[in-house]
Amino acid sequence: MSKKIAFSGVQPSGQPSLGNYLGAFKQFVGFQETHQTYYCVVDHHAITVRQDPKALTEQTYAIAAWYLASGLDPAKCTLFIQSHVSAHAELGWILSTFTQMGELERMTQFKDKASRHKHNVNGGLFTYPTLMAADILLYGTHEVPVGHDQLQHIELTRTIAERFNGVYGDVLTMPKAVIPKAAARVKDLQNPTKKMSKSDPGLGTILLLDDLQTIEKKVKKAVTDTVGKVQYDEENQPGVANLLGIYAALTNQSIEAAVQDFDPDQYGPFKQKVADAVVASVEPIQARYHELMGDKAELNSILKAGADNARTHANATLTRVYDAMGYVQLV
Ligand code: AQP
Repeated sequence: MSKKIAFSGVQPSGQPSLGNYLGAFKQFVGFQETHQTYYCVVDHHAITVRQDPKALTEQTYAIAAWYLASGLDPAKCTLFIQSHVSAHAELGWILSTFTQMGELERMTQFKDKASRHKHNVNGGLFTYPTLMAADILLYGTHEVPVGHDQLQHIELTRTIAERFNGVYGDVLTMPKAVIPKAAARVKDLQNPTKKMSKSDPGLGTILLLDDLQTIEKKVKKAVTDTVGKVQYDEENQPGVANLLGIYAALTNQSIEAAVQDFDPDQYGPFKQKVADAVVASVEPIQARYHELMGDKAELNSILKAGADNARTHANATLTRVYDAMGYVQLV
């Protein structure tokens, strides 16, 4: 039986956070064992917020290196840069004609980023979900491993695919999101009602590149509460719940099992143990990341092979879409 197909991407919009690691990279590694997987550095998405050219180049390599350092194996998955497969931009345009303005206006990420970048609320930021739909639909994707914040975009992808298929027949495969059991929503350590985000670095965001002492300090300074109990209560103790979610995900346990690892009455030792777990996970990944970033020739070779493979699959879907729509194609 052929394997199910999984696709996901990460933007090179800054150095990735622990949220990206737990919501994305860590999940991806499991999928490469069971699925035919496509993982992408989505550079076209990153430019919806202005990027410095040199930084964009470096961050693009960095995301590729973090993918690999987290455990992706180019022999098991297809790893590539979005802009190297032009079918993404082409299908993105087509799908924008199958997407309603009202649907895009409702996207939480658009509203959030538009309010954070008031001087640059550009058309690309608005139509971002149509390009993301193209990313996913080009590969006949069945499952999309993502963090909770992306659920709305995947729902819209399904709506767009349904609408397209409703007009042209069964051309696009219907995908579904898969989110991790613990830490699907890693929160900012200083403001645990808000998502931890790589483009919002500060004391509340653990970056994978932070030195290990800084990581420890950030966890120890995490905001908790005055309840004084180590228990999972997202509504009344969002800070403690966030740390428990992080710990459970890193130690591959359920939240219920993770809670048993702590003295319920002491926040100090609790935070120390969470900090140790984060450091223990990040340390080897950082070491591998530095090695990979020191060998751009190797990264280029992996990314080139990935793009060549991705292009074949993506172009086949794009040709089916053009055919179905009646575009003239010269062979
Ligand atoms: N805090 C988070 N908890 C769990 N998963 C998360 N992801 C991001 N933040 C968290 C997951 O990481 C993947 C890649 O995300 P992205 O690069 O497309 O951008 P994003 O979702 O917008 O993530 P950031 O870090 O907040 O980036 P910026 O600041 O550039 O917008 C996705 O699977 C996402 O769910």
